[in-house]
Amino acid sequence: MNERDSEIISQSLSGYGYIESLDMESSDVIIINTCSIRAKAEQKVMSLLGMLKKEKKSRPELKICVAGCVAQQEGGHLLERMPHVDLVVGTQNIFDIPELLQGCSKGKKIITSMTDSYEIPRFIPEISEATITDVRRVPRPFKKFVTIMQGCNNYCTYCVVPYTRGREISRKKNDIIDEVNVLVDSGVREITLLGQNVNSYGLANKVTETDIPYSFPSLLEDIARISGLKRIRFTTSHPKDLSEDLMRCFRDIDILCHQIHLPVQAGSNAVLKRMNRKYTIGKYLQKIDVLRAYCPDIAITTDIIVGFPGETANDFEQTMILLEKVRYDGSFSFKYSDRPGTKSSELQEKVAESIKSQRLSRFQTRQDEISLEKNSAFIGKSLPVMVESCNVDNCQGRSEYNHVVHIEKNISNTPGDIVDVFIYHAGQHSLQGRIVEDT
Ligand code: 5AD
Ligand code: SF4
Repeated sequence: MNERDSEIISQSLSGYGYIESLDMESSDVIIINTCSIRAKAEQKVMSLLGMLKKEKKSRPELKICVAGCVAQQEGGHLLERMPHVDLVVGTQNIFDIPELLQGCSKGKKIITSMTDSYEIPRFIPEISEATITDVRRVPRPFKKFVTIMQGCNNYCTYCVVPYTRGREISRKKNDIIDEVNVLVDSGVREITLLGQNVNSYGLANKVTETDIPYSFPSLLEDIARISGLKRIRFTTSHPKDLSEDLMRCFRDIDILCHQIHLPVQAGSNAVLKRMNRKYTIGKYLQKIDVLRAYCPDIAITTDIIVGFPGETANDFEQTMILLEKVRYDGSFSFKYSDRPGTKSSELQEKVAESIKSQRLSRFQTRQDEISLEKNSAFIGKSLPVMVESCNVDNCQGRSEYNHVVHIEKNISNTPGDIVDVFIYHAGQHSLQGRIVEDT
């Protein structure tokens, strides 16, 4: 989501003559797009800003802008702590950065933040040569993120998102379809639809001109009809809202990749309740069964938090048991950290850092073993792989299950082409193979 937001900032500035650069020392404007989901991400922002103090002192004309969740959360406090910052842009104002930058001349500081009456503006970027060859995304883009909604109404007790990104709001259906059309016309072959909870797309606000309800599965069907598009993915789904209609899409929409990210967070019902996740493990497992009935080969990944306040040894064992039951293809796991303003930060029974570390390492070790076992099952099989990049010796691509696949030699295909690869080696995080004609 943040990556797409950074791209939006870059695309909107390119319309005003700015050119994206990764070289901070020669840049006139430095924009730091920030994340505050976990304490570590926020600490990184603060240390980068600390480093920039010297740069600003030697070049007072340099403009420093902080955007995103930390900017939203800290607002004016950020300027008190980091007076060399010129512009603090809340999460809903990234589209306004070009105008805001013009406004902060002659030492004037600007702070923007969320409003209640927010609507996502129509923003369909021109795919010009300038955006195609931008420095971070060479060569031509063949896969892109498309945001379909913003914000979240779920209020999981550990999470800052409802506070930093505001109420859930969906983009207009036609804006999304137009954007995908523009991307596909420019050569994009794969898109990932983004939202904090894609399954509630179209529920909080009207997304079409008619009064006929329009849901995420309908959006998937409409996007799948766009000729030239080869793959669709989406993220993220809240398990409580994962509907059977959406599960059926994995069976019925042939370009929808057989992959879902379904964050469970914890395996203990008591912890889930304190997290305000609104499902039990029993319900979660039932959904996994139905999903696998519709799509037996679906790759399932998850997010796990260890050491949520009050998590006992027995609670954590429930997470380990869940891992054995579901056998996730992969997972992102984190030590719980208190975030400002969240309900869980007020809970007293904090788990010691050393225990969190032990639990995290146990979980990750077992997950790595399972990932390797699951990946090894592909050895001896052929998989369609979308080529992503090639160098003189070999190429790299992705399976529809989202494995990174190393391809033995340079097959001189263009990124975005799909080739059949015979898999002969599996690691925890990737597969290796050779192109099928060679086998
Ligand atoms: N502490 C640790 N992990 C967190 N996440 C969200 N908030 C916190 C927190 N306070 C994790 C969740 C979420 C992922 C994006 O980040 O697992 O799904
Ligand atoms: Fe945060 Fe929960 Fe919303 Fe995900 S669903 S963004 S974890 S509040």
